[in-house]
Amino acid sequence: MKILAIETSCDETGIAVVEAAGDERAANFAVLGNALLSQIDIHKEYGGVFPALAKREHAKNLVPILEAALEEAELLREDTQALSEETRAAIGSILAREPGLTEAFFEFVSECEPPAIDTIAVTAGPGLEPALWVGINFARALARAWNKPIIAVNHMEGHIMAALAQGEDSRRIAIDDVEFPVLALLISGGHTELVLMKEWLVYERIGQTRDDAVGEAFDKVARMLDLPYPGGPEISRLAESLRSSSLGGETAKYTLPRPMIDSDTCDFSFAGLKTAVLYLLKNNPGMSEDQKKHVAHEFENAVADVLWKKTSRALLETGARTLVIGGGVSANTHIRRTFTEAVAKECPHVRLRIPSAALTTDNAIMIALAGFYRACRDDFTESAALAASGTRSLA
Ligand code: KG4
Ligand code: ZN
Repeated sequence: MKILAIETSCDETGIAVVEAAGDERAANFAVLGNALLSQIDIHKEYGGVFPALAKREHAKNLVPILEAALEEAELLREDTQALSEETRAAIGSILAREPGLTEAFFEFVSECEPPAIDTIAVTAGPGLEPALWVGINFARALARAWNKPIIAVNHMEGHIMAALAQGEDSRRIAIDDVEFPVLALLISGGHTELVLMKEWLVYERIGQTRDDAVGEAFDKVARMLDLPYPGGPEISRLAESLRSSSLGGETAKYTLPRPMIDSDTCDFSFAGLKTAVLYLLKNNPGMSEDQKKHVAHEFENAVADVLWKKTSRALLETGARTLVIGGGVSANTHIRRTFTEAVAKECPHVRLRIPSAALTTDNAIMIALAGFYRACRDDFTESAALAASGTRSLA
């Protein structure tokens, strides 16, 4: 089965063509084409993702990205396609709210053969509404033009599948030997949650943040330290440089709180940690680069401590056999290391699965992976129903 997948939930425009084989027990995926365009440089000026701008950029880039992905997959055949008046009118109304996209869309589909794909998977929440809708409407328009079924994919389910995927090579991946229950720690710019997957596609939320998401805390603390957006990688860079320097073993200069670490729940809270950094900076104006490194280091330690403590509590409570970490923050070196070491030491019976670097932050391959599991259950979505709800919950 060839899946064309589209991701536009935040600031990455991603389209991938993935050929999937096998079934839920043992699936193999060949990434035939993958095009990804990051808008980070554009949003940097604003210190965060600006939704209207994200929507405009997705609208501008979707057609060229699609062309690139299909070309790489060798599925692009030039040919003149005459769309019927009825199809044109239907697509016109699907794209009515995407003015930046319509002209390029019609030009593209009238100049190439419908590609040999079986289905179109698209991220349908959670994410930034205006950004999500461009992708959803683009998928609906393609589905109409090419007469293909649509699969609505939950973005977080994409992150889970990306973490379960194994492969030496980012083009050939497999998902097999998954032992249930699977506990997923999902950490991104908008989410921090612990979700139990009892069997394929059956979820139960075990805990979540009561205020800020981890990625949001990273980004806000980075801004306080005058670091550019996105802040996660910047904080990590500072903290890691301290760890690897000769001062790495030195005792912490500052101490930050570990909110809710001993509370009797798997919920998280990061607002207090962020505020503690704010006060620390207020009380120590004009910090040197070295002092900032210590702040980043202690902040990262605090986050990793809380994430692991809550996750180990959830592992114990649920008896999970597999642990996955997914979402953009799972790219963090210190968090990856903390989890790898802690699982080996404290829960050796649990298999830890962490996404490869290429699949960690937002991309369309993960949407194709999740789309495959939905397709295995014939879980396709009617275009009109997708237009009406626009979201797909984790359930
Ligand atoms: O999953 P993702 O790409 O987009 C959302 O769905 O939100 O996650 C983006 C978040 C941002 O907050 C970014 O700062 C954070 O992931 N992030 C990191 C790292 N790389 C990305 N946080 C900590 N350390 C990193 N290395
Ligand atoms: Zn994400």
